[in-house]
Amino acid sequence: MSDFDLLVAGELNPDLILSDPNLEPRFGQHEILVESADLTIGSSSAIFACGAARLGLRVGFVGVVGDDEFGRFMCRSLGAAGVDVSAVVVEPGQRTGLSVILTRGTDRAILTHVGAVGSLRAEQVPASLLQKARHLHVASFFLQNALQPGLADLFRGARGLGLTTSLDTNWDPHEAWTGLKEVLAVTDVFLPNEAEALAITACGDLEAAVQNLSDWIPRGAVKLGAKGALAWRAQERARAAALQVPAVDTVGAGDSFDAGFVFGFLSGWTLQRSLEMAVACGSLSTRAAGGTAAQPTLAEALQHLNEGGHGPAG
Ligand SMILES: Nc1ncnc2c1ncn2[C@@H]1O[C@H](COP(=O)(O)OP(=O)(O)OP(=O)(O)O)[C@@H](O)[C@H]1O
Ligand SMILES: [Mg+2]
Repeated sequence: MSDFDLLVAGELNPDLILSDPNLEPRFGQHEILVESADLTIGSSSAIFACGAARLGLRVGFVGVVGDDEFGRFMCRSLGAAGVDVSAVVVEPGQRTGLSVILTRGTDRAILTHVGAVGSLRAEQVPASLLQKARHLHVASFFLQNALQPGLADLFRGARGLGLTTSLDTNWDPHEAWTGLKEVLAVTDVFLPNEAEALAITACGDLEAAVQNLSDWIPRGAVKLGAKGALAWRAQERARAAALQVPAVDTVGAGDSFDAGFVFGFLSGWTLQRSLEMAVACGSLSTRAAGGTAAQPTLAEALQHLNEGGHGPAG
């Protein structure tokens, strides 16, 4: 039996969220008072790992942090969420990254210091660790600069050891969308959002993009925000509407969605049920500020599973 259901090779940084309905930062030595301040678990990979652990999966994390408070905060918080962080590497020469998120109602401005976010290398994910896991997930492909060149080989090696693989690229800040082809050829589950799917396939509409993706990758889902999501498995298609929840903050909704979808995949569920699970996890996560505070337990997600309503794709 494996020690881990899931291993995440990813980036780690906290989010500092400052919220106020009238927030208007001003230079020129102005001090502005804000309603609330929260330091939360940030980064797509870490939010995914927490979502999966909350569903009861045994999750291990490999990543790089600096020898600083932000890094210690991330390791402590992931540990408290049930994620095994013993393989996280502390590199004293690095500074852990940070995002400062200023929120005003539904609008937000984000200031990010990338720091160690892009420094994990494929060689830092040892075969001895992969051997202990059933599945390997990678997120933020375009931010993980040092991981990119070795990722296809890492996925190939993982598959050779009997693991399955999943990938959520998230947005490419350079909007080049290159370097993915070889990785997608060894990806079992692909999890872009709509804009990312269109950009990666260079297709003008969602249906064509999904058709294109299904030619490369056996299974995956395209996230459609408040409209829910669409999934494929070979030529099979599934669709699920989002749950009607009072959405407070959608940060990390995509990562929580990914955790639900991978949970269904690892449980051997049908495509439709895996997608409904994913949508429930994504939607429920929007009920509170930050990426992880409202992620559902398995019991909670199951309770909401059939609320979304769904129908055939198209
Ligand atoms: N406003 C909303 N109301 C209800 N559910 C939502 C809302 N926004 C997102 N979701 C849920 O979260 C899922 C994923 O969200 P989204 O499409 O925003 O992913 P994403 O763009 O990858 O997000 P991220 O910013 O985390 O990368 C959706 O499929 C839906 O189930
Ligand atoms: Mg996303």
